[in-house]
Amino acid sequence: MLTREQNDLLTRVSGPAPMGQLLRRYWHPVAGAAELDDQPIKPVRLFGEDLVLYRDLSGNHGLIDRHCPHRRADLAYGFVEPDGLRCSYHGWAMNAAGAVTSVPYDDIVLPAHRLKQACSIAAYPVRELAGMLWAYMGPLPAPELPVWEHFARDNGFCEVVLSDIPCNWLQCQENSIDPVHFEWLHENWPQRLKGASASSAARHTKVEFDEFEFGLTYRRLREGMNESDEMWTIGRVCLWPNGFYLGDHIEWRVPIDDENTLSVSWFYTRVPQESEPYVQERIPAWHSPIRDEAGRWITSHVINQDIVGWVGQGTIADRTRETLSASDKGIAMLRRRLQRDLAAIERGEDPSGLIRDPERAARVPLPNANAHYLAAIPRAEWLAHPFLSRRAAGNPWAAGQPDAVRLAYLRAMGFAG
Ligand code: FES
Ligand SMILES: [Fe+2]
Repeated sequence: MLTREQNDLLTRVSGPAPMGQLLRRYWHPVAGAAELDDQPIKPVRLFGEDLVLYRDLSGNHGLIDRHCPHRRADLAYGFVEPDGLRCSYHGWAMNAAGAVTSVPYDDIVLPAHRLKQACSIAAYPVRELAGMLWAYMGPLPAPELPVWEHFARDNGFCEVVLSDIPCNWLQCQENSIDPVHFEWLHENWPQRLKGASASSAARHTKVEFDEFEFGLTYRRLREGMNESDEMWTIGRVCLWPNGFYLGDHIEWRVPIDDENTLSVSWFYTRVPQESEPYVQERIPAWHSPIRDEAGRWITSHVINQDIVGWVGQGTIADRTRETLSASDKGIAMLRRRLQRDLAAIERGEDPSGLIRDPERAARVPLPNANAHYLAAIPRAEWLAHPFLSRRAAGNPWAAGQPDAVRLAYLRAMGFAG
């Protein structure tokens, strides 16, 4: 349980809120790069700031204020130029560094004017990595963008899946250090929804939590497992500060504002041996719906089930009224580490888990209990595998995979002609 003040401190991310200032010190995935292929300007809201993300005609990305510095027109309706973005209202142009590069009428009638030098627009660095566009919105110099080892794997089909979640970021991230929910939210509950009359999932008998440089890990023992299982010897990674690394995919919970979160998931599925070598030309990005036509939450897919858990806790979960139990030790550790990081930035130091050495950031390994999903295996074995076989028809984690993406996936796997 937290006090009202502690809950506000850990959850609020907009404007000068300390947690927003802390999270801004990390790189965050904010879009799929492929999203800009057809429409090069995307309005985004991050940490309570309205911005536009764009790819200009030279292929460079920018993230700048959504409103023009002239008279505040919406730059989501501007157009891209060889170096930046031009406002459609009176033609002012801005580049990715936030400089005003053209003020067309004044440039003609007052060629010596200094308006361009006198004004600028908020701008943040953007990088492309693993089919995602990453933004850094903290103080400069920016730390390195970590290339998690998983991004370097080849012979896999990758996809980026995004959803807008109408609740605060922290309750989403607390899910990343919550092993026991798996047994209930992803096993017993879906079985009941399908008509089962009893709960039959293997019960958790022991959970442990540990800290390391890039986050926390949880380890679990369930009925039928023994202590040599990698879920006990290695476990899963609550990736600092707002990610969840599951060995074959990574999820991030990126704050839009105090009451909304962008869920970004990056999936990798290794193709069967017969389909190697496989080189993916473009990593697709798509939006996964969270409500059905009747307006109810979608419950059919794993991440959608998580979302039902998160939004059900309220827009900002009221932690003055919760009751933590033995399964929540990791949640308490996560909150304590956030508080330690808040104290560190207050002292002018870096928070935990930042990398400033480019060599180190170029390939960062993480504990991985799912390494066996990433090995090359024959198609017949793939299709008979208890976990891989769940992926035989498309994406089992997030609802609404577009037909074109599913077909590309099935072709990559060698399951469709
Ligand atoms: S409002 Fe953008 S150029 Fe005038
Ligand atoms: Fe979950």
